[in-house]
Amino acid sequence: MKKINVVNGPQNASAIILGCMRMPALSVNDAEKMIQTAMSLGVNFFDNATCYTAGEAEIRFGDAFAQSGIPREDVIIQSKCGLNFERSEFDWTKENILSSVDDSLRRMRTDYLDVLLLHRPDLIFDPEEVAEAFDILEKNGKVRWFGVSNVPTLQMALLRRYVRQPLVFNQLQFSLEQSQLIDQALYLNNKTTDLSLDRDNGTLDYCRLHDITVQAWSPLQYGFFKGCFVDDPQFPELNKALGEIAEKYGVPKTAVAIAWILRHPAKMQAVAGTMNPEHLKDVCQACKVDLTHHEWYQLYLASGKYLP
Ligand SMILES: NC(=O)c1ccc[n+]([C@@H]2O[C@H](COP(=O)([O-])OP(=O)(O)OC[C@H]3O[C@@H](n4cnc5c(N)ncnc54)[C@H](OP(=O)(O)O)[C@@H]3O)[C@@H](O)[C@H]2O)c1
Repeated sequence: MKKINVVNGPQNASAIILGCMRMPALSVNDAEKMIQTAMSLGVNFFDNATCYTAGEAEIRFGDAFAQSGIPREDVIIQSKCGLNFERSEFDWTKENILSSVDDSLRRMRTDYLDVLLLHRPDLIFDPEEVAEAFDILEKNGKVRWFGVSNVPTLQMALLRRYVRQPLVFNQLQFSLEQSQLIDQALYLNNKTTDLSLDRDNGTLDYCRLHDITVQAWSPLQYGFFKGCFVDDPQFPELNKALGEIAEKYGVPKTAVAIAWILRHPAKMQAVAGTMNPEHLKDVCQACKVDLTHHEWYQLYLASGKYLP
């Protein structure tokens, strides 16, 4: 497993994170097996959120982790707050941040989160309130590091003006099939393609300029949770290119798709959501692959882009 010393954040963090959004589909025993498999592969970073099946993902993780007997200090546990499906709102108020963290801790049966991310911008957030909440959480030892998810440039800048702790992570959608995080720079000013649209105001570059590590969510999905693009006949060229490179390195195609993300010099992490231990073993083989510059472009172009 490739490990990352995150700037201002956790050291020795696995480049591949196990995303627990789909964990409620597993029994506690199967969830424990998933966690044990992850740890045996060197995956020591677990992502969760208060909104995943209304807290069920945190509960399943907490029960399975407790059953595993793995020492708490051996893992990095991350959760997110601020996105509330039941109330149909995004809520970054101090009151909600504090109570969400308490709920996460109770559900995950732990007394601290390694990482707390604010999940999607609350359109009426007050950065001073967020700053107060972060100070309290840091002071009482409930959260070690802070970050955001799906938050664009200027909201990060606004937060950074008030919040005293560094923003360490931004978790964003990024995959070979959903690569809008990087496309715009290549097609700049090009009126003939939507690929030139700046959809996030240079979020990736802002993160790199300010040492905010990007975590790529849904690294194998096409569209918005439409399914895994690997081996999907809708993506013949991409699968052909993945297959050729996979054969060269002697790894599964999913590993190559993840290696494409890890090859980015921003030193991103990939948040893999499989709940199948064999699939996770395949995904982790990404760490055996160092794609060449040319192979990275071969895959990018095979995913439906072209040189302008
Ligand atoms: N911040 C955000 O807004 C946000 C949004 C969405 C997700 N996330 C995070 O990102 C994580 C990953 O999301 P995701 O589950 O959509 O990502 P993903 O890893 O791209 O997709 C996983 C899905 O692909 C399926 N799959 C099919 N064949 C596979 C194969 N050979 N290898 C691996 N997977 C295969 C998996 O099924 P099997 O289980 O059967 O393998 C699973 O349903 C989530 O758990 C969550 O932590 C964050």
